[in-house]
Amino acid sequence: MAELPKNDIADLALAQQGKARIEWADRSMSVLRQIRDRFAVERPFEGVKIAACMHVTTETANLMRALAAGGAQLALAASNPLSTQDDTAAALVAEYGISTFARNGVDRDGYYAHINAALDGAPHYVFDDGCDLVNTLHTTRTEVLPSVRGGCEETTTGVIRLRQMSKDGALRFPMVAVNDTDTKHMFDNRYGTGQSTLDAIFRATNTLLAGKTVVVAGYGYCGRGVSSRAKGLGANVVVTEIDPTKALDAAMDGFRVLPMIEAAAIGDVFITVTGNRDVLRREHFEAMKDGAIFANSGHFDIEIDIKALTELAVAGPRRVRHQTDEYMTADGRRLLLLAEGRLVNLGAAEGHPAAVMDMSFADQALTAEWLTKNWQSLAPGVHDVPIEIDKEVARLKLETMGLAIDVLTPAQEEYLNSWEHGS
Ligand code: ADE
Repeated sequence: MAELPKNDIADLALAQQGKARIEWADRSMSVLRQIRDRFAVERPFEGVKIAACMHVTTETANLMRALAAGGAQLALAASNPLSTQDDTAAALVAEYGISTFARNGVDRDGYYAHINAALDGAPHYVFDDGCDLVNTLHTTRTEVLPSVRGGCEETTTGVIRLRQMSKDGALRFPMVAVNDTDTKHMFDNRYGTGQSTLDAIFRATNTLLAGKTVVVAGYGYCGRGVSSRAKGLGANVVVTEIDPTKALDAAMDGFRVLPMIEAAAIGDVFITVTGNRDVLRREHFEAMKDGAIFANSGHFDIEIDIKALTELAVAGPRRVRHQTDEYMTADGRRLLLLAEGRLVNLGAAEGHPAAVMDMSFADQALTAEWLTKNWQSLAPGVHDVPIEIDKEVARLKLETMGLAIDVLTPAQEEYLNSWEHGS
């Protein structure tokens, strides 16, 4: 057997199972597959080292395969302890020869040990999902900074953190906001989070949503996706917001808008997707009904104040089902927290379906290729993905879906490019 790349994974014996699942995901990732085939011929990453901190799922594995086909030397660390699929990690190491540092359920120290291990190879480019790798680079691993030419960020949360770093003059290299492409956030955040969050709630609790009151905190793209899918399943959806425009948007989409303290008393299922902390806190737990279920689908496990929940509870947490912990209050109410307050769609299910990650990761792959050609002309800071990449991913996805669109006539083109025409 060939020597395995550096790794820290749970169980190599799971590699065959992981490979089968990665190949299954690949069937729905035709845009990324086309890119992988081209990369295999053109080898744009020959001699290039990439460190990634991403969810270790079958979809991410296919992104790693595309980059490896292009010649990249890769090190992948997990971006969330609960999202790691141990079989995928095993296949990455044993079947695809990719250095992987990921074990499901690692503690905080293990999580950072894995990020540090990915950085040990002095990468040229970094792929981040939430900004923990870039943050580690700028705080405890500054000796690695000179090798880094740039990177990509996958999430809304990560881009917010990067912009803050940039504003403070702390960011030392160019980071491209892959999250901000239309082909990422309009689809991944809305249809991916929308479907996979409910999928996770079903896998964990097998609850019926029809006729229930579902409270969605946050009405960005993720909140919109979750709300519309819950409505489609017959739930009465209540939206909570702190932004007046987004609240208005929710109201005009037909949802009831309430402050959380009022929603807390009537909700059966609560889903946080705000990107902020303490969205569900003691005063809300005190108001909730017996049997209330709550889950977070925002990036970090800060949206539900678990400390306050633990302090309020007289018993628990008691694991009652898959990723479902019951907390008992003094007055006998059972409050149910899913996936320990971490990203529920990846903690209790498999994250976004492959067909949607196809676009997000096609954006990542093409952006990485673009970065290798352009990094020298980019200043430290946060940069947009070139619009051509976004449009190309949309075009390819439409093509793989067998959908055609119209083209502008010369007269339409001329009309759009002129300002003289009136009514
Ligand atoms: N983020 C959300 N869903 C994901 C998935 N399936 N794979 C990787 N990252 C994700």
